[in-house]
Amino acid sequence: MKATQQISGAGIGLRTQHYQTILESRPDVPWFEVLTDNYMGAGGLPLYHLEQVRDIYPISFHGVGLSLGSADPVNLKYLTKLKQLIERYQPEHVSDHLAWVSLNNHYAHELLPFPYTQEALSLISEKINTVQDYLGRALIVENPSTYLDFNYSEMPEWQFIQEIVNKTGCDLLMDINNIYVSAMNHNFNPLEYIANIPCQHVKEIHLAGYEDKGTHLYDTHGYRIHKEVWSLYEKALTYFKATPTLIEWDTDIPDFSVLLEEADKAQLYLNKYEQQEQYA
Ligand SMILES: [Fe+2]
Repeated sequence: MKATQQISGAGIGLRTQHYQTILESRPDVPWFEVLTDNYMGAGGLPLYHLEQVRDIYPISFHGVGLSLGSADPVNLKYLTKLKQLIERYQPEHVSDHLAWVSLNNHYAHELLPFPYTQEALSLISEKINTVQDYLGRALIVENPSTYLDFNYSEMPEWQFIQEIVNKTGCDLLMDINNIYVSAMNHNFNPLEYIANIPCQHVKEIHLAGYEDKGTHLYDTHGYRIHKEVWSLYEKALTYFKATPTLIEWDTDIPDFSVLLEEADKAQLYLNKYEQQEQYA
């Protein structure tokens, strides 16, 4: 297994459709992000392929199953399995979402939103602390894309994230596409959001493509990254610096070469930021 190392540069989300291409051609990709929930089984093909990819590349783990925004307690069975996977594959990052996917052991296939209240803040902070204590490492939490506001939210999302970081010391994964989608859907300024994020805690960035539904933007992860999101990404780097960035594609998954093109483009932005810093 490739030694654990700090990941950097523009990585790509590992998808089953690309196992063969990756293992045969060993593309020059600095790291892959692995969807943890697909590898929770006891063995079989997924783990066989992950083992081989991990022999070549550094990886990060990205999951949905912690269901941080749910009123349920943390699922200890899931957490135990997650810890076993971490010990076996030594990911550089372990992340999950600021959303909920389950209630009373019923699982949804969507990342669902919740109101930003003091009550939610206490509950989610407690769950993140439980996870971090059990795993013995900082959890990285990703901002959601949302399509509705709750009348009884008591603070904007960026403030909720600030408070979560204050209460848990967790790290952050900033999905620039999610910020853009939510900003357009709820009519807020995405740069004001970014400026209020505790940037020293941002350890990873996601980029993906949304779909314009006419009435709202929908975060499908099924398109190339839109120019508006590239533009926001370029501005975000001045706050988050040259943070490892991931190309995330989940529906209508294209040929691996398309993901490579998007990753190359992200790498150009990262290089440009670093050059500007060097001569500033
Ligand atoms: Fe994301």
